[in-house]
Amino acid sequence: MQSEKLIIFDTTLRDGEQCPGASMNLREKLEVARQLSLLRVDVIEAGFPVASPGDFESVKQIANEIKGAKVAALARALEKDIEACARALEKAESPRIHIFLSTSKVHRDQKLQRSKAEIVKMACDAVAFGKKFCDDIEFSPEDASRTERDYLIEVVEAVIDAGATTVNIPDTVGYTVPEEFTGLIRSLKENVSNIEKAIISVHCHNDLGMAVANSLAAVKAGARQVECTVNGIGERAGNAAMEEIVMALKTRKDFFGGVDTGIDTRQIIPTSRLVSSLTGFLIQRNKAVVGKNAFAHESGVHQDGFLKSKKTYEIMDPQDIGLNKSELVLGKHSGRNALGQKIKAMGFDVNADELNKVFVGFKTLADEKKEIFDEDLFVLVQKIVLHNDESDVYSLKRVKSEFETGATPTATVELESRDGKVHTASADGDGPVDSIYNAIDKITGLTCKLMDYQVIAKTRGHDAQGEVTVRVHSENREVLGKGMGVNTVEASASAYIDAINKLLVNTKSGPVDGGDLPGP
Ligand code: KIV
Ligand code: ZN
Repeated sequence: MQSEKLIIFDTTLRDGEQCPGASMNLREKLEVARQLSLLRVDVIEAGFPVASPGDFESVKQIANEIKGAKVAALARALEKDIEACARALEKAESPRIHIFLSTSKVHRDQKLQRSKAEIVKMACDAVAFGKKFCDDIEFSPEDASRTERDYLIEVVEAVIDAGATTVNIPDTVGYTVPEEFTGLIRSLKENVSNIEKAIISVHCHNDLGMAVANSLAAVKAGARQVECTVNGIGERAGNAAMEEIVMALKTRKDFFGGVDTGIDTRQIIPTSRLVSSLTGFLIQRNKAVVGKNAFAHESGVHQDGFLKSKKTYEIMDPQDIGLNKSELVLGKHSGRNALGQKIKAMGFDVNADELNKVFVGFKTLADEKKEIFDEDLFVLVQKIVLHNDESDVYSLKRVKSEFETGATPTATVELESRDGKVHTASADGDGPVDSIYNAIDKITGLTCKLMDYQVIAKTRGHDAQGEVTVRVHSENREVLGKGMGVNTVEASASAYIDAINKLLVNTKSGPVDGGDLPGP
């Protein structure tokens, strides 16, 4: 009998991070991996090691550090990719190599230019090669949902014979619909002769808005691993959202017949907020489970019913997903120890030096802001700890912005470069922020285009901290910059400088090296 446990395979750090604009630095990825481990996901797909030295290093560090969850790394069906995974996963407590190769006709003919037989052979050779390094091998026939059914059955049977312990069925382009996907999983269970030797997994994309529905339909049909991402981030319209799948199974136990996950659902909100904040991907207000409005009852009729009994209009308990009322955490007079304990309880891992920096920031903030909430502290830790300022080329010393109705805004900016020199420039612009950015450009000499600019209140009250996120394009590269603070004009300057530093340091991976198969 198949287990009733559903394996949650989180691919936020691979498929999620792969989508344009969601890239994270090493420190940020480690923080997400730690949070995923607190959430108790079963498998963390940490990256695609052959893609770049940066990807390799982040998989390696996550593999070295994370205990409890399995750490998976992605490879094309190529020996050099599989070897890179094996090297990156060397110290993992529980490693998995995930190999993928396209099987659909359009991918075979147009992308790979390989015959059906050649693909079966490549897949089996790759799985057998992976087995030399790792017992736990997952194989994904990419674009499975558009692959001829009998051919898919043949491939799945062959890779299980070659040693695959998980067979993942990707709906790569988000094409399938729930009933069809149920039929596909059932037919694999009925027709793949050795299917009991492997776990069936699914990996659904959201191009038609059905990623979660398709994943749940597959679970109902017998899949026992679901691949998903936090907040549903991922290529194009994204992947299946982890929090929606987990809460659907928990809330509708009656329907799913006791299939359960090992997720600590109280970590859903902290994880969702961390990922949103680090990637700059805002969560839509009405997003299921984690959106700001998910538990807000607006209409009079609903409010009346809700006050009589929560069950009238609430199918989930907000506390179950970790949505507690924020507490007023610490005051101006709180000490370093209390602050350290609070930060630890929030899931951050900081060393003594970092704690000192946060403490200084905390005291400054306490002077600026009367009430300090959990979320203020969250913002502060993120700003100070996750940001690797050693690699920064410029830092903001001072900004002066002049703005008056009917007049052209002007700004003067002072930046300090790594060598200690202070650079000053003034400029005007279409608005106060534009004038600041023009002044910064004069100093750095870079030609930058502002692609996106967002400000959101991260905390509460009239003295709430704002988070400014900018997307900046320069010479074929696009980076995300963030700045936070009570003063949003200053935060706007910081966000732009953060982006400039990323452009100057060249942190993001280059293109996948020229193997003979295109990347995922
Ligand atoms: O969408 C997809 O097919 C993938 C595979 C690599 C599993 O991401
Ligand atoms: Zn995918």
